[in-house]
Amino acid sequence: MPATTSLPPGPRLPRAAQTLRWIIRPTAFMEEQARRFGDCFTVRLLDSPPMVFVSDPASLRAVFTGDPDVLRAGEANQILEPVLGANSVLLLDGERHLRQRRLMLPAFHGERMQRYDAVMVAAAEEEIARWPLEQPFALLPRMQAVTLEVILRAVFGLREGERLDRLRLLLRELLEWTAGRDRMLRIALLGPTRFGERSLAPLRAALRPVHALLDEELAARRRQAGANGAAPERDDVLTLLLEARDEDGEPLDDAELRDELITLLVAGHETTATALAWAMERLLRHPPALGRLREELAGGEEAYLDAVVKETLRLRPILPIVARRLTAPFELHGRLLPAGTEVAPCIYLAHRNPEVYPDPLAFRPERFLEQPAGTYTWIPFGGGVRRCLGASFAQFELRSVLRAIVAGTELRAADAAAERVVRRAITYMPHRGAEVVLDRRRAPA
Ligand code: HEM
Repeated sequence: MPATTSLPPGPRLPRAAQTLRWIIRPTAFMEEQARRFGDCFTVRLLDSPPMVFVSDPASLRAVFTGDPDVLRAGEANQILEPVLGANSVLLLDGERHLRQRRLMLPAFHGERMQRYDAVMVAAAEEEIARWPLEQPFALLPRMQAVTLEVILRAVFGLREGERLDRLRLLLRELLEWTAGRDRMLRIALLGPTRFGERSLAPLRAALRPVHALLDEELAARRRQAGANGAAPERDDVLTLLLEARDEDGEPLDDAELRDELITLLVAGHETTATALAWAMERLLRHPPALGRLREELAGGEEAYLDAVVKETLRLRPILPIVARRLTAPFELHGRLLPAGTEVAPCIYLAHRNPEVYPDPLAFRPERFLEQPAGTYTWIPFGGGVRRCLGASFAQFELRSVLRAIVAGTELRAADAAAERVVRRAITYMPHRGAEVVLDRRRAPA
């Protein structure tokens, strides 16, 4: 192991210039650094520690299997605290993170997902029925409506009624705030501290009624369930969270449950909607891939659908990086990085590695039929003990909704040119929101 700590080279631009480029042209910025410095380089942003980007499989393995007490994700994610709340699994580290994660994991187990299929397909079909014929519209907001509905029903377990309608409205307002385009720029330029309480006032105002409604729902659920667990006929995620007990027999308390519900909403809504928009954006520009998908689905085959989902998340990852803050020196890529550094496994660059993915810019779902997705080469959901809790849920939802769209519509791209990747808050979306024209609806098979 090297005796002294050091950081890998990186761009020599002033911090403000690096920050602006990272916010405004992030993909060009990452590609340029990879061309100059290879698969490990240091980026220096305003108001944050040096960030070491890595994208080679060996480094990704080292980070994702490293000691979580040294590689702290919760600390690196603190910028999300005002939205998610201090008890969010995304913001915790150490024992508390593991406890919370263990309590939540069973609700997201792959085998349970089948139960949500009906909710997902219904949400997609209801939405498709509202699309206009023969005029351009952006798919992204339509996909957001679907994923919000899925979370309200499959995760929060809300059914028809006033509380569902009120919460839907309030959450739209909250999500609009969190996705505000200029917000990331202001937080990055001013720093979270100087961005300050005053700027957070609208967020707090949007959160207050949401918290009140969630508290109401939790109280109602506990009343229905009696003293010991939840009503037996429900199998939404919240029911399982209410029933979950840790090794000492302790449940999640109301503040924890509330923060986790907001976390699941924020982590699962925009990400999945954007992935759906990208999948259609890519498929509509690759008619042979869409044709093969249609054919295989008609024959009851799902392998190609799964490959389309994987290839979409490879070529258009929704989040470009994940982050870990070092609490002690850590050996990576032949160096000893100093404590305090932020390590950023770079999803975007890892997915464009030509040694792993020949012809990396081509949209070719077949590659995932020829070769399975690798743990340290296909990382749209991050990795290790912090890997996305909703990864199975999201992939299941992507398959269910895409199946419904392919079966129920004949769409074309509003403009033949591919859509550019642009940043919206923290996700990377198609710049026109995946604009399409619906030529006609297809009768259900
Ligand atoms: C395509 C959709 C999605 C993408 C691309 C995505 C991606 C990610 C990524 C990159 C992380 C960080 C992993 C790391 O630090 O190594 C993460 C964490 C997380 N995601 Fe997702 N996600 C998606 C959908 C969802 C859904 C649907 C849910 C829940 C309903 C969800 C819940 C979470 C939670 C709770 C965490 C925190 C895990 C922890 O810190 O232990 N995500 N996700």
